[in-house]
Amino acid sequence: MRPVIIAANWKMHTTPADAGELATTLAARTAIEGVERVICPPFVCLAAVRDALAATPAGAGVGVGAQNVHHELSGAYTGEIGAPMLVGLATWVIVGHSERRRDAGETDELIGRKLGRALEAGLRPILCVGEQLAEREAGRAEAVVASQLRGSLAGFGGEPGALAEAGLVIAYEPVWAIGTGRTARGVDAAAMAEAIRSATGELGQGFAALADDLPVLYGGSVTAASAGEFLAEPAIDGALVGGASLKVEEMAGIVARAGLTAAGRRAAGVA
Ligand code: PGA
Repeated sequence: MRPVIIAANWKMHTTPADAGELATTLAARTAIEGVERVICPPFVCLAAVRDALAATPAGAGVGVGAQNVHHELSGAYTGEIGAPMLVGLATWVIVGHSERRRDAGETDELIGRKLGRALEAGLRPILCVGEQLAEREAGRAEAVVASQLRGSLAGFGGEPGALAEAGLVIAYEPVWAIGTGRTARGVDAAAMAEAIRSATGELGQGFAALADDLPVLYGGSVTAASAGEFLAEPAIDGALVGGASLKVEEMAGIVARAGLTAAGRRAAGVA
């Protein structure tokens, strides 16, 4: 019964002047039955994207997400954005992206606190996990990801049921595949998606129910050409798309392929 989700992570691209038009063009070109779409623009473009989507019928089915949120609700944190500020602007939020782990020193413990704040504000989190290349080559990919899940999910300070209720989504993004043009193999990503559900289920009481229906997306150099490799895998429920999400034709191709997955699940009675 898991949904098929395609999320666009625009990273530090677009401006309030051009984000709305890109969002509405993407919305119009990706209206495919059964695929949940989310656009995550920079903070300063959230209002433009929200307003542009609201102004066109095609925008109705597209969610808006932030790319980050602070681990406190408010306070003396210059330049930061707290979850309550996002209410009305976004309904989704990405937490724990590897670029923030790398550039902002985010730890699993901190990411767990961000999850807590996101839930308190009613935001639907996309939690990113993924190993470095050396860790995969050393055969430690699943252990690293399990440890990231343990550190952030077990430590988020709330009930596992609240994560399920909020619709938690995991994005498996091998760090070596992000923005490099190099992707994981579909079978490896699918094995990791299953490992993510098992590791989540083993986190303790209450987590098994969360794990069963936990949507797991793949991210890392997904394009229209590579999307099929991942979306053909029953364990994978969609994609978190970076670079290609700024290109209308690429996104049209990715969401069209996701539509095939959604239709297949419907036909098989699993979605
Ligand atoms: P990419 O980024 O598609 O450009 O590799 C994915 C991501 O970082 O979410």
